[in-house]
Amino acid sequence: TRDKMPPVEGDILVHAAASQEGDPIKISELSDQLVRAWPMGKDKEGNNLIRKGDPNNVLAIFRFPAGKIIAPTNIEATINGEIVAYSDVCTHAGCSVADDDQTAGQMKCPCHSGQYDPKRGCMVVGGPPPRALAQLPIKQQDDNLVVGGFFLENPYPFTEAEWEARKE
Ligand code: FES
Repeated sequence: TRDKMPPVEGDILVHAAASQEGDPIKISELSDQLVRAWPMGKDKEGNNLIRKGDPNNVLAIFRFPAGKIIAPTNIEATINGEIVAYSDVCTHAGCSVADDDQTAGQMKCPCHSGQYDPKRGCMVVGGPPPRALAQLPIKQQDDNLVVGGFFLENPYPFTEAEWEARKE
């Protein structure tokens, strides 16, 4: 069903934290602290639908000062080179990656200490993860964030057939 669909172009990004779940993320409130998000689309009747049926859909959003986000980040898939979105699912064993308390603006996985740098395409900078977190293209819509396209690297393990089933 559609709540299990991956982020779809045009989806609005909403807070995943329990205290604010479903509230659209505001650009003006973002910083170098990780904000977790779900994509929110529409069900068949046209009502808002948070795509939290697949835990792999959780996203990590950051905002950095201009010029801080560099290669291999895809800058065109960011907003003004300042706001960037990634899959928040660790490529090692699937835990939800968090802020690194030791290094502002970096990420650390609570399971086996995998580290990622969100200013550099979420490349692996420590620990066991085999590859970077997938970047999700985003666009600005007023003070909100919308999905601009599919992940630049497909982070989903499911098949084409399962994919089609999720569109129902
Ligand atoms: Fe993230 Fe192992 S699951 S480092």
